[in-house]
Amino acid sequence: MPEESPEAAKTYFDLQAEWGMTKHVGVLEATQELAVECHVSTDSYVLVVGCGVGITPCYLAKQHGCRVVGVDLSQRMVDRSNERAKKKGVQDLVEFRQADAQELPFENSLFDAVMCESVNAFIPDRRKAAREYVRVVKPGGYVGLNECVWVEPPLPGMADYMWRMMGAEFFPSHEGWKALLEECGLSEVIERIHTVNVLSQWYDETRQLGPREIAAAYLSFPLQCIRNPAGRRFMREALRVPRSLFKVFKYFGYGLYVGIKPGKPADVS
Ligand SMILES: C[S@@+](CC[C@H](N)C(=O)[O-])C[C@H]1O[C@@H](n2cnc3c(N)ncnc32)[C@H](O)[C@@H]1O
Repeated sequence: MPEESPEAAKTYFDLQAEWGMTKHVGVLEATQELAVECHVSTDSYVLVVGCGVGITPCYLAKQHGCRVVGVDLSQRMVDRSNERAKKKGVQDLVEFRQADAQELPFENSLFDAVMCESVNAFIPDRRKAAREYVRVVKPGGYVGLNECVWVEPPLPGMADYMWRMMGAEFFPSHEGWKALLEECGLSEVIERIHTVNVLSQWYDETRQLGPREIAAAYLSFPLQCIRNPAGRRFMREALRVPRSLFKVFKYFGYGLYVGIKPGKPADVS
């Protein structure tokens, strides 16, 4: 893989922060399933790592009435998330902080659940990050990931395109994510693999953000590509599409991986 990929990831996320739009495969349906598997309820205290523009933390707070902390490497994403929380009226339940998944600024055993959606493929040391998730979750608490997976070995050009465009590197097979959580000390790790199609992914993203935000994101995209040198570079790379990419959704999907931190939950009575 070429060396410039971490820079590609930074450019990709800087642009997304400007568009006001971040995403994960499976959209809201995947978030709901992950929250169920992580046993999120009104009483939960949840950490969402790599929260992007804050869609999932605000959704969890609104839907379950639980307290949520969202962290992201990018301060611009944190600002976007705070704006969203105010707009959604959940600012009393959610809090956002700038932080690196590989060094979380929280004490041990603080959260009932840690959730991460489409983040770990972009992290240089994902073992270190996964150990952090396990450290900050309570014994008996849940760590849940939604990560992109190859449901079939990718055709030539597909994996390279993801790397060039976004700096994302996926395990060559979906078992990698499950093994990662097990190696980091979680037990009873479940895995659910889903495929998606391009139209339903696009339709669900549009529905989730709503017409106003989608229109603002779609207008901002060409502007960024014109005004911003990084945006122009991104666009040039994006247009170097390998032929195999048109079939990518046959090979590409997402996996939900959830494990429990061993040990007895603390007595709260
Ligand atoms: C593909 S986006 C997904 C965002 C969000 N989870 C969603 O589904 O909308 C990945 C996010 O992870 C963040 N990120 C990347 N590396 C990170 C790290 N080391 N620590 C924390 N966040 C990170 C990026 O800034 C970006 O917001």
